[in-house]
Amino acid sequence: MTPRAVLVGLPGSGKTTSGRRLADRLGVPFADSDDLIEQRAGRSVRAIFDQDGEEAFRAAEIEVISAALTAFDGVLALGGGAILADATRTALAVSGVPVVWLTAELTTLAGRVGRAQDRPLLVGDPVGRLAALAQERQPLYEGVATVVIDTDRRSAKQVAADIDEALTALAWPA
Ligand code: S3P
Repeated sequence: MTPRAVLVGLPGSGKTTSGRRLADRLGVPFADSDDLIEQRAGRSVRAIFDQDGEEAFRAAEIEVISAALTAFDGVLALGGGAILADATRTALAVSGVPVVWLTAELTTLAGRVGRAQDRPLLVGDPVGRLAALAQERQPLYEGVATVVIDTDRRSAKQVAADIDEALTALAWPA
């Protein structure tokens, strides 16, 4: 059992909102690696970062994603930094699951995350932090992506439709 699609991208790219819409469209469940980590730990992402540190969060992230890639058959959204881990990039490649990279301009991302109180890596200076993360991660998203979907000026509903169309095109004429 593997996911129908995995969504990656920076915080604010719409992985969760568009991912839920896509799952509804496809009639499959939706999961988000941050939620899976929080359920397992019984604490918020923010609390895990504060109490255990980023390294512990990243270790949990690798584990829940690895498990979901073999045991979950819906739409799976990954936390923005999940692709930093070699193990996760390799697991994505091995799974053969379509990886959808959601992109947006920095101003769009910043507008969507707002003050980002629940996003420990962005707190204080969301725009500056997003710019740094974009610089660092761009090649990693590019490396794992099967398809790239621009989300600027698109609603979650439109993005879900765009992803659906791209997934259908991938499967044809297989
Ligand atoms: C992170 C993004 C967050 C969450 C954690 C770290 C990152 O998820 O996993 O705060 O490193 O970009 P979202 O991309 O859903 O905000």
